[in-house]
Amino acid sequence: MGLIESIKNKARCSKKIIVLPEGTEERTLKAAVIADKEGLADVVLLGNEDEIKSKVKDVDTSEITIINPERSEKYDDYVEQLVTIRKHKGLTLEESKNLVKDPLYYGTMMVKMGDAHGLVAGAINTTGDVLRPALQIIKTAPGIPVVSSCFIMEVLYKEYGHDGILLFADCAVNPNPDSKQLAAIAVTTAKTGEDLVGLDPKVAMLSFSTKGSARHELVDKVVEATKYAKEMAPDTDIDGELQADAALVESVAKLKSPDSKVAGKANILIFPDLQSGNIGYKLVQRLGNAVAIGPICQGLAKPVNDLSRGCSVDDIVNVIAITAVQAQNL
Ligand code: ACO
Repeated sequence: MGLIESIKNKARCSKKIIVLPEGTEERTLKAAVIADKEGLADVVLLGNEDEIKSKVKDVDTSEITIINPERSEKYDDYVEQLVTIRKHKGLTLEESKNLVKDPLYYGTMMVKMGDAHGLVAGAINTTGDVLRPALQIIKTAPGIPVVSSCFIMEVLYKEYGHDGILLFADCAVNPNPDSKQLAAIAVTTAKTGEDLVGLDPKVAMLSFSTKGSARHELVDKVVEATKYAKEMAPDTDIDGELQADAALVESVAKLKSPDSKVAGKANILIFPDLQSGNIGYKLVQRLGNAVAIGPICQGLAKPVNDLSRGCSVDDIVNVIAITAVQAQNL
């Protein structure tokens, strides 16, 4: 069974409520109907009901819950709750009233208040616009200082990672994490690998140096992050600093880091910053013809996932299933 099929099966085991704020967007609408038919989640679409129904005349949305934020019975409650949550930032009642009319904020409040278990958006909104309400309202999970993201990569060569499956992080959120944040990204990604893929994590902290082969302040950050990550998760196999070939290739690992439990066997690659992470996953995806599933947002107290604006209907269905499984694992 393929990876996505097994994630979909997990999602079906205990159905969760997933809210889709971009309810009037055509791909999102189609994905909602498919996710509902496949039993992956109880989907809620946000938007004006007439507009939603006029968009897809050929698609039956009768089984899907549609909520118009401004007219919903929860609107006033969410406005008040948001003022309380953001009081320390000086949010006024008027500002809250306007924010909660925005489906991205309304949907995030649904998740915060327990009226939905997770949120998926980003088909027409930027990463920043999708994540900002989640960062402000849902916040990080206990013990996790930073929200980050990972990609599940399925490469053609089964000798790498776990039968050709690896997780790459952070490829989409934190431009330049410090060593403590990088450590948290490593530990969070290990947990995502266990929860979504059933991996036994072998986490490589990547650099242009392997175990002191180069000296530079950029390398120092990775060395320090490795130390912090080991402290945070003493039972997880984490090692660094490692070059990508030492992390992935057994014969290179034997030469460069023979005593490492991770080198040559890594299935989780932690990049030192967003430039390398984002470039790295796109190179593997395009030149290596790999499947890239994500970005999967991790480290939030409740799951919110961002789509690429170029996403297909199937991509949205897959992210709904992933979000539902993340909600199960809380
Ligand atoms: N983890 C936890 N909290 C965070 C994080 C984080 N990584 N980043 C910001 N926050 C919190 C802040 O503490 C702040 O909270 P507060 O208001 O309660 O004090 C709140 O979020 C807003 O903080 P800002 O610094 O104003 O964050 P901003 O909204 O500007 O940006 C964002 C956050 C969108 C994640 C930003 O870091 C970003 O743009 N990252 C890059 C995204 C990107 O362009 N990725 C590449 C494309 S994606 C792709 O190719 C797949």
